[in-house]
Amino acid sequence: MADRSDARRTVTGPVAAPRRPAADEWWRHAVVYQIYPRSFADSDGDGIGDLPGITAHLPALADLGVDAIWLSPFYVSPQADAGYDVADYRRVDPLFGTLADFDALLAGAHELGLKVIVDLVPNHSSSAHPWFVDALAAAPGSPQRDRYIFRDGKGPGGSEPPNNWESVFGGSAWTRTAGADGTPGQWYLHLFAPEQPDFNWGSAEVQEEFESVLRFWLDRGVDGFRVDVAHGLAKAPGLPDHHVDPRLGAMGFEPPTAKDARAHLDGAGAEPTPTDGQMGPMWDQNEVHEIYRRWRKVVGEYGHERILVAEAWVQPLSRLANYVRADEMHQAFNFTFLETPWYAPILQDVVTRSLQLNNRVGAPTTWVLSNHDVVRHPSRFGLADAEQPKPQQGIGLGDPQPDAALGSKRGRAATLVMLGLPGSAYLYQGEELGLPEHTTLPDDARQDPTWLRSQHTRRGRDGCRVPIPWVADAPALGFSPTGESWLPQPESFRALARDRQAGDPDSTLALYRDAIALRRHYALGAGTLEWLTHPGGRVVAFRNGDVTVMINMSGHEVPLPPGEVILASLPLKDDGALPADVAVWLV
Ligand code: GLC
Repeated sequence: MADRSDARRTVTGPVAAPRRPAADEWWRHAVVYQIYPRSFADSDGDGIGDLPGITAHLPALADLGVDAIWLSPFYVSPQADAGYDVADYRRVDPLFGTLADFDALLAGAHELGLKVIVDLVPNHSSSAHPWFVDALAAAPGSPQRDRYIFRDGKGPGGSEPPNNWESVFGGSAWTRTAGADGTPGQWYLHLFAPEQPDFNWGSAEVQEEFESVLRFWLDRGVDGFRVDVAHGLAKAPGLPDHHVDPRLGAMGFEPPTAKDARAHLDGAGAEPTPTDGQMGPMWDQNEVHEIYRRWRKVVGEYGHERILVAEAWVQPLSRLANYVRADEMHQAFNFTFLETPWYAPILQDVVTRSLQLNNRVGAPTTWVLSNHDVVRHPSRFGLADAEQPKPQQGIGLGDPQPDAALGSKRGRAATLVMLGLPGSAYLYQGEELGLPEHTTLPDDARQDPTWLRSQHTRRGRDGCRVPIPWVADAPALGFSPTGESWLPQPESFRALARDRQAGDPDSTLALYRDAIALRRHYALGAGTLEWLTHPGGRVVAFRNGDVTVMINMSGHEVPLPPGEVILASLPLKDDGALPADVAVWLV
């Protein structure tokens, strides 16, 4: 039996100075639940989720205790990138319903006390957007083409792309146009699929259009916007070639590794000096900030409760903090935290730096473990470090498969750490059920453009986008009345269906509900973090107000500190020990 011994306070003191949130600054400590509409609930039986499906299930989310929902795009779109290719920013795609359905969803959410954040996709439109159709029909140098990024090609007859940039999904980031008679013409830039041409943010018309789109949804009553690819809108002048660093992911982002953490802790790897555009000439250019300063003013006209959230794969964290300066966005997703490996020193280091750097600019830190672009966290944590794919690469047949039991255990523990931290947390639909990634999805079912565009070398993101299970014994596990499902659901989802977990106090659903309720009760979101040391090593422990949060990443059991356990990621034995890969909250 392990000795019960005290956790000791470090001398470092609080890393986040308390900032008392104004009553209307709900977002500073909110738990936000991401809905991926096509995979949440299908009301009309076509196998694709829709807005009425979401409205019908809002009570389940109110019951979970979240403060807000964020909806991935539901706008008119040819769906070349699951709706992140928008053809009309002010209308709902018939696949998902109507504008009246959206209004009903918004009213239903507000009635339940849930805020609603919608997705805004300003880096690119769909190639079916009327502006791009006009641009293709217009001449080089025309005002229509100036809304996008058209350039002449290099080489004889302009037959080579204007620069060497690659699309995030694979292949060149340029596609050549052809005239009505087939004559090859200029090239246009698309950092993602060819069906997603990049806007020219130097164009006043583009700027005005997006301010008008913001107002359109603000006038309808939305509570905020999640801004897609917020670090991509401005490109370096002259569009210079990109000197690609092979360590970086497609969006120029390198996950923190255990090696970096050790270097950092040794003092050798202090926060690198941020340089302008170090991630490449298409990412994190200083000019993006002017755009967000203008947007902050627009949103501010509607009061302090409407927010902007940046999806910006930016590092180091000090550069990310620029997006949440007082006159810019309210929050930015913390992808450095999402990519933190199962290694205590780096977890502690990333949390410390996140809080310090955000605090410096007066912004709350966000925490996120899963979303529609990355392998779900219980599956990531079920893989050995050496097997970790780049986050958006996915896992498929023939790849190393996660240890499901280990992953589920660690996933629950990681969630307790996340929800125990001060700031705001983002959940991805299905994580409250403990859903794993679908890691054996048949390749011929895949729909993410990454799979095709990477010449079948990166499986992509379908494995985290599989429709979620509501009822174990219903068609499509309760997702759709007809049993249709746009991606096949794995058999492992059946036992995790919401109705199976509903009455079980040891279920993942109960854990999330309890954690969210206790987080609210102890005001953890608005709290201050103070690190504790623990004699067990490879244990991360901190105090947030009245609550001690501890996770055991050591591989063996360690003593629990004194106090009453109010929540544990797995049931504990009454022996004063904290088993490996388990987290607890104590008071
Ligand atoms: C963001 C979205 C992702 C999409 C990409 C292009 O990263 O989260 O799903 O493919 O932007 O819009």
